Amino acid sequence: MAKLHGTMNINEKGNLEIGGLDIAEFAKNNEYPVYLMDEELIRKNMKEYKESFEEFYPNSRVHYASKAFMSLAMCKIAEKEGLGLDVVSGGELYTAIKANFPMEKIIMHGNNKSEQEIRMAIENGIGRIVIDNFYEIDLLDKITKELDKTIDVMLRIKPGIHADTHHYITTGHEDSKFGFIIKEDIAKKAIKLVSEKEKMNFKGIHMHIGSQVFNTKGYEESIKIIAKLSKELKNENITVKEFDLGGGLGVVYTEADDPMTIKEFVKLLIQSVKSEFGELGLELPKIMVEPGRSIVGEAGTTVYKIGSITEVPGIRKYIAINGGMGDNIRPALYQAKYDAVVANKMNEVKKEVVTVAGKCCETGDIILKDVELNNPESGDILAVFTTGAYNYTMASNYNRLPVPGVALVKDGKIDWIIKPQNYDDILRNDIVPERLK
Ligand code: LLP
Repeated sequence: MAKLHGTMNINEKGNLEIGGLDIAEFAKNNEYPVYLMDEELIRKNMKEYKESFEEFYPNSRVHYASKAFMSLAMCKIAEKEGLGLDVVSGGELYTAIKANFPMEKIIMHGNNKSEQEIRMAIENGIGRIVIDNFYEIDLLDKITKELDKTIDVMLRIKPGIHADTHHYITTGHEDSKFGFIIKEDIAKKAIKLVSEKEKMNFKGIHMHIGSQVFNTKGYEESIKIIAKLSKELKNENITVKEFDLGGGLGVVYTEADDPMTIKEFVKLLIQSVKSEFGELGLELPKIMVEPGRSIVGEAGTTVYKIGSITEVPGIRKYIAINGGMGDNIRPALYQAKYDAVVANKMNEVKKEVVTVAGKCCETGDIILKDVELNNPESGDILAVFTTGAYNYTMASNYNRLPVPGVALVKDGKIDWIIKPQNYDDILRNDIVPERLK
């Protein structure tokens, strides 16, 4: 059976429980799927990052990468756990502002930040802007002068290595749209240029090599490259005071995934920074990380109801659920694999290999292919695990299906943190021009 995460367990009725909530009972009358988030597991993961750094390298800051899952309540949890926030768009920044998140603990990314986004960030007192390209240096120069405000900046550098993950989610190689390349002294030129700007305070270097990564080899190679660059900069009297290593640690989607613990990951990164910077006689920088998936991924479970079942003799059996690619695009986009269970039959001995299909008008709307499930039948509740990261945030209204709501589960209770959409939400921005009435 699929590995249980966080606070999951099986109750005396043989039903799946998360945070003490009986999932089968909760979902039996739901028309559409719901994303459930195990609050305890989110907090546990945040604490593990924070405490591992406090133990091994106090000069550090953990920013939660909000692109993985963002909402007002999520900002509150991150704040209460003492984390900073990584935002990548005006919408994420606006959410953080509305949640009264401490602005000095926010770091802003983006490879094409708009003038409005930059203004909103600066006017609200953002902690750091991570500059991605030469166009942005000019834009920031202009805006900081206009606003007469000095801003702390970092620069995103591509170390030029390949992270071992799906090619859509590697970002540290040379042929990537993000950041400055090291070759031909481009990164160095950019950093020098920024250091000379009147209203920019150069703090350090940012990198992010990819996501769902299982070993630290790519990080170690990259840290070596950045340490060397820092040494060259030092020789020109520019100090890299801060080094942001990005996010990327993988999580368990299926039994094929075997990530190291957060603590091991942090320890290995710290070791590498200490040894590479130490070897070159450099002062140790403040280390930052920005994990997303490894904080919320396993904490999320999408709860569906099984409807039609279509048997194609000699080929496969399709089990259709009341959601699909609208709430989980990852299988179609990245061939992502998931584990699932029939939540109301956890002790069932009869097993069957089936394919779980969504309800969208699209052949590729398959959420799990050829998986073993515990006797799935129409009316059963299907719980798909590890949907906490990049599922809600990449959801769409394809086929005009409402985007499911998100609820925290804790101590046997649920608290909605994002309401489920209804049909009026779907119509909210529709306009019929006069001449069509
Ligand atoms: N920092 C930067 C600059 C990033 O670009 C990302 C993710 C992170 C941090 C967080 O990485 P994490 O710890 O979550 O791996 N939609 C894809 C994932 C895209 C990741 C984008 N960047 C997916 O569903 O797998």
